[in-house]
Order: sequence, then C-alpha cells, then structure tokens
Amino acid sequence: MTAKKKASKKKAAAKGPAGSTPAPARAQRGADGVYPETQILSRNFGVEDSWTLAVAREQGAYTMLEKALATMTPAQVVEEVKTSRLRGRGGAGFPTGVKWGFIPQDSKKTKYLVLNADESEPGTFKDRYLMELDPHLVLEGCLLCAYATGLDVIYIYIRGEYPLSITRMEGAIEEARQAGYLGKNILGKQGFTVEAHVHPGAGAYICGEETGMLESLEGKRGHPRIKPPFPAVEGAFGCPTVINNVETLAHVPCIIEFGGAWFAGLGIQPDPANPRALGSSGTKLMGVSGDVKNPGVWEFEFGITLRELIYDYAGGPLDGRKVKAVIPGGLSMPVLTAGELDVPMGYDALQKVGSGLGTATAIVMDDACDMVEACENIAHFFADESCGQCTPCREGCHWMEKIFARIKAGEGTPKDLDLLEHLFVNIEGRTICALADAAVWPLRSILRKFRHEFLAQMPGQSDPALPAGSAAVGAR
Ligand SMILES: Cc1cc2nc3c(=O)[nH]c(=O)nc-3n(C[C@H](O)[C@H](O)[C@H](O)COP(=O)(O)O)c2cc1C
Ligand code: SF4
Repeated sequence: MTAKKKASKKKAAAKGPAGSTPAPARAQRGADGVYPETQILSRNFGVEDSWTLAVAREQGAYTMLEKALATMTPAQVVEEVKTSRLRGRGGAGFPTGVKWGFIPQDSKKTKYLVLNADESEPGTFKDRYLMELDPHLVLEGCLLCAYATGLDVIYIYIRGEYPLSITRMEGAIEEARQAGYLGKNILGKQGFTVEAHVHPGAGAYICGEETGMLESLEGKRGHPRIKPPFPAVEGAFGCPTVINNVETLAHVPCIIEFGGAWFAGLGIQPDPANPRALGSSGTKLMGVSGDVKNPGVWEFEFGITLRELIYDYAGGPLDGRKVKAVIPGGLSMPVLTAGELDVPMGYDALQKVGSGLGTATAIVMDDACDMVEACENIAHFFADESCGQCTPCREGCHWMEKIFARIKAGEGTPKDLDLLEHLFVNIEGRTICALADAAVWPLRSILRKFRHEFLAQMPGQSDPALPAGSAAVGAR
C-alpha cells in the first residue's frame, strides 16, 4: 500500500435524511485495493450548520426517536441493540444491549444516563467530532437509551478542554427542549419525561473512568469506586445508572433506522469456535496521530487493516522516515511493531496479536523515536494522572518513571529491566481501576519488543541491533 492510493478514497455512504435512504451495503475494497471510508455515523459531518436543529431536522434528526416511541416498546429497543451486537466505543468493548439490560426496572429511584464525553485518552479525538458536528445525533442516541431503559435524567460529562463541544451540546439541549424532544411527556408519549444537562469536567484523565466520573459528577474528587456495586444498580447519587461513550450512543439511531441485524452484518463476525470472540459489528470512527503526514479521523466498517489506515488515509510516515511502532487504540494498549500492521482493526483481531482496539485511534512512532524517552514520557503521564488510592499504581507508576529516566540519563543497568518486569507483575490487576493496567501494557510491550534500545543506552552493554563493534552508549 502506498500513500498515493489515499487519493482514490471511495465512500460507502448513507447520505440523505435518516429514513429516506436504503441500508448501506458492506464496504468492499475497490479495484485499486483501497478499503473505502464509510459515512453512516458521520453522514452529516460535511453539511453546513449541521449542529443546528433546523439543519439536523432536514437530515432526519429525531425521526428514529419518533419511530421508536410510536412503534416500539422499550424492551424492543433493547432487543434491537442486543441484536446489533454493538460494543462500547469507550475502550472496553462491552456489549451495549447487555449493559442496558442490567438496569433494574422495578427500582423506584431516579435513573440516570451519564454520557462519557470525557475523551481523556491520549491520541483520541473522535467524540469531539460527533459533539461539534452532530450534537442532535448524540442527543437522539441518549434519548433512545433513556426510552429503552426507563431513564429520567441525562448528564453529559464533557472534558473542560472541549469548549466547542460544550457549547454545541448545550445549544442542542436548549433547542431540543424548546422543540419538545426533552421535558415532560416527550412527543406526547405519556410518562416519557427526560431532562438533560451538560457537566464540564476539569481535565483529569481519571474522570474518564466511569466511577471516577460519577464521583466527579457528584462534586467529589474523581476517585474510582470499588465494584461491585456496579453503576447499573448503584451509580450516580446511589441510583441505577447507564454509562456509555458518546460514539456508542450515536450509533443507536442508525440501528433503529436500518435494524440490529443490518448493523450486526457489517464489520467482523463473531468466531463460533471461540465464545470470547464477540466480533466487531458495524462501523467505527478511527483515527491516527503522531509521526504521519495526514493525522485525522475517518469512519470505517471494522476490517480495515492498521496498515491501510496509516498508509492509505493518514499518508504514511514523514518523508525519509519509517514506521517503527504503533499503539493502535489511544495510549493504553500494547504496542505493535512495523511488521505487525496487517491486522484488521477489530476487537478480537487486535487481541489475538497481543494488543487491543481501545479507542481505535492509533499513535504512530517513526524510526527517529527514542523508545526509552517514549517510555519515560508514557510513565510520566500515568504517574501524573494516578488518583493515588492504590499503592501499586501511586508508587509503581512513579518508580517506573524514575527507572526510565535513569536509563535515559545513561545510568541504567540490565537489572533495571528485571526490576521493571517485577513492577509490571505487581501493578497489573492489583488495583481498583484499569488506569494502572493501562500504564503497564504499552510500557511492557515496548520494553519487550525494543529491549535492544534500552540496552543500547546502558554503559558497557552491546546493542544487538547495532553492527558488531559499535559503541553502545552515544552511538545514536
Ligand atoms: C483511566 C480510564 C480512563 C477512561 N477514559 C474514558 C474516556 O475518556 N471516555 C470513555 O468513553 N471511556 C473511558 N474509559 C472507559 C469507561 O470507564 C467506560 O468503560 C466507558 O465509558 C463505558 O462506555 P461504553 O460501554 O459505551 O464504551 C476510561 C477507563 C479508564 C480505566
Ligand atoms: S488504579 Fe490508580 S487511578 Fe485507579 S483507583 Fe487505583 S490509584 Fe486511582
């Protein structure tokens, strides 16, 4: 694949107002071998003033809410989402319909939806496109979730560094309220009464973790909670709560429009021989940042390879450089080498090669990147963002940062690499939330795959990647 092929991007689109177009067909590579972009979730991105209610309505906004209220029971909406096999787009990939099914319907308490719009994962910038360019789609997805699970109040928790997303979502809520899509007995449906509010965050990575977010929403420090109880039973303000990512819920109107079976037919199918391989249905906003010519976000049906994403859409590495390593889904996933890029972008496929889809926004490092420095930087991020409740995370992330800094300063020894391995074992899986695992995964994989670069920066150690006789330290 070459960067030149990028020019021939064909789009498999569901253009036109919702309800007026046939269900988009599966994406097919063209004669030139290029995997096409898809415009289902992103179909309104190029439309002028797409964030206003007047324009959004011309494109069919809220027609799927009308359809659901008029023709479907809440249980039928949940079933449709289960049939779609939609998995959460916030990183963990939990099946959305199954999560909705956990909300106790016999509870008399107020029920909440907390929309996770914190988008705090490094290298991840997909949810902001939805909030800035199609906030009414996001809101319609929230309302369909509220109808399906019997929720009363929607909180949209948006990171404070996204002022335009905050403005656009607040504007959409106001317009929707005036038009009768929010408030009492929505669209005349007796008893379907829902309010929505935007809650801006203050810029902590940990407030993207769902229970850290709940604490923050309640006005406390963003300290993740021990689970159980899970938020579906005891979430915001001690009440049943659905927590979903922005992109996850933005898919729901299309599922109601074209059907769960259509969505399940897109992307990568489950593996019947492996009950843990749930497949990757539908489409996904995918992004690339780092050492590439054309960073950005595009929508694809699951199945495009990481190599195609980087070379055909992100333009490949900068002139004269080569790709050295890629973290496929934000920062929190194990790294892949340049020889491992032919993997399809999908939950199970990436797990099979020892990494993960995460947020599906790849960070590319080229051959000028010093992996020791990269690790020091990554460890610094997690040490800085640790909330400090768990000793392995609070102390361990700082220790890892210090060891990488020592190696970078040319004062490391091979024993430091053993010490790091020891730390990985004693941090992973031993904490309240997954931030500590997220720190270990990229660092351990970089250390194992690029060990020679660490040895090369240690006095007296030879670098197996260098020609025999090269002086290790200072050779680069
Ligand atoms: C440290 C940490 C940060 C996270 N940040 C985000 C985030 O910014 N946005 C998000 O949607 N999910 C984030 N998550 C995942 C959420 O905890 C949760 O799984 C997700 O919001 C569920 O929504 P989904 O099922 O629709 O993906 C984070 C998790 C961890 C451990
Ligand atoms: S793992 Fe880290 S961020 Fe998560 S609760 Fe423990 S100390 Fe806080």
